Amino acid sequence: MSDNAQQGVPYLDLKGEFEVLQAEWFAAIREIGAGGAYILGPNVRAFEQEAAQYVGSRHAIAVANGTDALVLSLRALEIGPGDEVITSPFTFFATAEAISTVGATPVFADIDGESFNLDPESVRARINKRTRAILPVHIFGNPASMTALGALAGTHGLALIEDAAQAFGARHGADTVGSLGDAGCFSFYPTKVLGCYGDGGLITTGSDAVRDRLLKLRNHGASAPFTHDELGYNSRLDEVQAALLRIKLRQLERDVSARRRVAAWYDQRLAGSDAIVPVHPDEGRHAYNLYTIRHPRRDALRALLNENRVGNSQCYPLGLHLQAVYRHLGYRPGDLPVVDRLCGETLSLPIFPAMSEAQVERVCELVKAV
Ligand SMILES: Cc1ncc(COP(=O)(O)O)c(C=O)c1O
Repeated sequence: MSDNAQQGVPYLDLKGEFEVLQAEWFAAIREIGAGGAYILGPNVRAFEQEAAQYVGSRHAIAVANGTDALVLSLRALEIGPGDEVITSPFTFFATAEAISTVGATPVFADIDGESFNLDPESVRARINKRTRAILPVHIFGNPASMTALGALAGTHGLALIEDAAQAFGARHGADTVGSLGDAGCFSFYPTKVLGCYGDGGLITTGSDAVRDRLLKLRNHGASAPFTHDELGYNSRLDEVQAALLRIKLRQLERDVSARRRVAAWYDQRLAGSDAIVPVHPDEGRHAYNLYTIRHPRRDALRALLNENRVGNSQCYPLGLHLQAVYRHLGYRPGDLPVVDRLCGETLSLPIFPAMSEAQVERVCELVKAV
């Protein structure tokens, strides 16, 4: 047995990354402690500016997590009860949950079988007079078909909200995701491409009006101290996370390149095997938050990886349209056939910037052994 086989391969390695950046972060924390501004302070303001510049959006508003980024964006765009929002059922639950939280109804469209992203034709077929927005997800870090979805939104006068939770640093053509719609929503949950060591989120927007509304909504609907214009939320980012995000944003290009190198190693080794590797966008850049393959014997592969202590995740085992919480919406198996099929075939393999070629080799040996 080789060393790699004995060690297994982790799904991701957050502790290794912490070892490298802890000195810089701890120095920032000491400054924060001494400065006395702990929430929405100078680090949050600087991070908002730096993130806006990175994404190429006029404004960036930090919030408590990615779910809130979606909820507040929907509220800021006046979407609520009676409205329908078309989205993907092949995503983490928070995407649809946010739509329901504001009182609107998620309408699930089918996805493209290769990119795992919303199929614009399926979206088009679901637009009606109650539709108010399209909410594509850049799933696994792969940019959605924003040209076609943007055209649909434009033609029908709909808002376009990007769920970019998994896609910080991904590009659609030359544009960074988050800059392509009315609002771009990011999560800094620790496992994301840009992750903090707690919860965090961000909204990017080009609109001054949306920015102003978001600033109120994240702070109890207040336009000035003790002046509440509407019901809002306590959804603020703290300084300790913002300081970490500033450090990690400076190394993000290096991290995304490292993820893409790992993905290329997988692509090469899995070519010609039974595994179908993820597609790359023709133009633009996949950020590889996750490296998700399709495999005809997915469950056997999963068992073999588990037996050999190789991290993996079944993203996603069930389309959101078939979750118990949405039973009242009336979807049945077969209504969205591509999603239903992919839920039985997809498996996410280990990927993180410091992953070695030997680790990739070990995972691929097992994938090919199934
Ligand atoms: C696609 C997607 N949307 C939304 C979220 C919600 O983000 P958070 O966990 O920061 O609330 C996540 C991640 O957890 C996600 O993967």
